[in-house]
Amino acid sequence: MLDDEQIIVPKYYAQLLEASAKLQFSMPSDLKTGSLLRTLVASKPSGHFLDIGTGTGLSLAWIAEGADESSRIISIDINADFQQVAIDTFSDDLRISIDTADGNEWLTFYDGEQFDLIFADAMPGKFEVLDQTLELIKVGGFYLIDDLLPQPNWPEGHSSRVDALVETLKQRSDFVQTTFNWSTGLMLFTKIK
Ligand SMILES: C[S@@+](CC[C@H](N)C(=O)[O-])C[C@H]1O[C@@H](n2cnc3c(N)ncnc32)[C@H](O)[C@@H]1O
Repeated sequence: MLDDEQIIVPKYYAQLLEASAKLQFSMPSDLKTGSLLRTLVASKPSGHFLDIGTGTGLSLAWIAEGADESSRIISIDINADFQQVAIDTFSDDLRISIDTADGNEWLTFYDGEQFDLIFADAMPGKFEVLDQTLELIKVGGFYLIDDLLPQPNWPEGHSSRVDALVETLKQRSDFVQTTFNWSTGLMLFTKIK
């Protein structure tokens, strides 16, 4: 079996890509990650989802398409300029809240309902405030991270941070996990206790 090279992209995807190019937003998640995200989200009817690192809204578009009508989605990013694209695009979608915030602060002080899935696509929630982020996942919920295989835009020293993160996460006895040498390098976790 081959990877699907004809992935059907979500609504608004093309316009988000176009707006991303205009803003020189160079960190979009790839199609395979998006497709997996949509599939996972669709497994959680009336779900509660957190997208850390809105960017221009590409991962949000996949989550929005996987989520059913009674789901709720929060997306956070520190960069209001990138995020404005997502705000304009999804303004009519009442399931979605887009917050402009520093992820470290947001994750530290959030005291609302736990999440069925967290996609951590920024430093906060992944390399920073990791324990607090994992606390926010329901038992049975998913934690997904990408960009674990070497990427051209990695800053110096990032590779050892990734190795340390992977090792830390593998020690967690409250999650089961699968690694994917696929897409940009993913790890998928399900909370078991
Ligand atoms: C890899 S991009 C997100 C890509 C997006 N999820 C997508 O699918 O296209 C990482 C994002 O994290 C945001 N970011 C960086 N530092 C942050 C922080 N401290 N808190 C929240 N967001 C941050 C950046 O502005 C950037 O938009």
